[in-house]
Amino acid sequence: MKTLDSIDKTSMRDMTAKFPSMLRLDVFPESIRYEAEKVKLKGVGGICITGMGGSGIAGEICKALMADVSEIPIVSNREYSLPRHVTKEWVVIAVSYSGETEETLSAFDVARHRGCRTFALTTGGRLAVKADVKKTTTLPAGLQPRAALPVIFSGLLPLLELLIGTERSDLISIADALERLQPDWNGASLMPEELAAELQNKIPWFIGWKHLVPVAYRAKCQFNENSKIFASSSEIPEIYHNEIEGTLSCRNHPVSPVFLRSREEDEKTRNGFESAAAIFEENGCHPEHLNFRFDSRIEEALGFTMYLDRVSVMLAEILGVDPLSVERIAQLKRRLRD
Ligand code: F6R
Repeated sequence: MKTLDSIDKTSMRDMTAKFPSMLRLDVFPESIRYEAEKVKLKGVGGICITGMGGSGIAGEICKALMADVSEIPIVSNREYSLPRHVTKEWVVIAVSYSGETEETLSAFDVARHRGCRTFALTTGGRLAVKADVKKTTTLPAGLQPRAALPVIFSGLLPLLELLIGTERSDLISIADALERLQPDWNGASLMPEELAAELQNKIPWFIGWKHLVPVAYRAKCQFNENSKIFASSSEIPEIYHNEIEGTLSCRNHPVSPVFLRSREEDEKTRNGFESAAAIFEENGCHPEHLNFRFDSRIEEALGFTMYLDRVSVMLAEILGVDPLSVERIAQLKRRLRD
């Protein structure tokens, strides 16, 4: 199995810096490809990716990336059970880095009970015991699950691409592009340390469109888990119909909107972002617009993720909190298990 030897697993900063190397691990073994091809030949009614927190987010991002491409439904599930429409014609992919997450284990049992074809991505635990070894991608161990996103992504995306019958993406070239991005962040208007300083004592509010919606959500989670602060995320164009009203209270609350701007924005979307920004400003709420130059949709989603992961770690350092530890998550998991 490919390893993570060069990564300092006691340092969240190092793990975020090694994002491209993790993507390069490319954990899509020949055996899984073979099994997935067999499943595909029998027909796939839909794909449900089930997983929580740092393990669930890869599914959310893949689902959004494939929304314009896949002719079969792809859903992401973060529950103990599965939606009723997930029947035996569906493929269920369970992702749990530890293999010990109650919700994921339970949803996996439901999938088995309904006769769905199942795959698993995990480092071990009870999920590895339950799952069919031939359809299990063994992830390299030792990371925090949220830091393992690029590794999980490198196993999940090719599996989905094969099941929906689309061309396989070249993740190695994308990893190379992300590597080149890091020194100067491709002319970004703000370096990660500058954005971290700006977000100090604020409630960051990440706002994305299309494939950057789950990336905004990922950023919210990283600021929760790494920086140990409240954060929020929303999506364009939905905010035009609700949160825009909430900006009236911006002068009383330290909310700091961060707009994730995509290379794919059409005129309508660009106009929507700009119009919303103008109303935010009128209400004393200054949005930061993050722009990068990326070559593809996948590169854009992962590049933004890598950048915002880094900002969340830098904010943790400014605030003097440990970005690695997740004591309260562990505490709650113990309570749910006992
Ligand atoms: C911890 C983290 C959490 C876990 C979640 C599910 O780094 O990101 O959000 O991912 O508690 O656990 P796993 O990933 O082991 O299924």
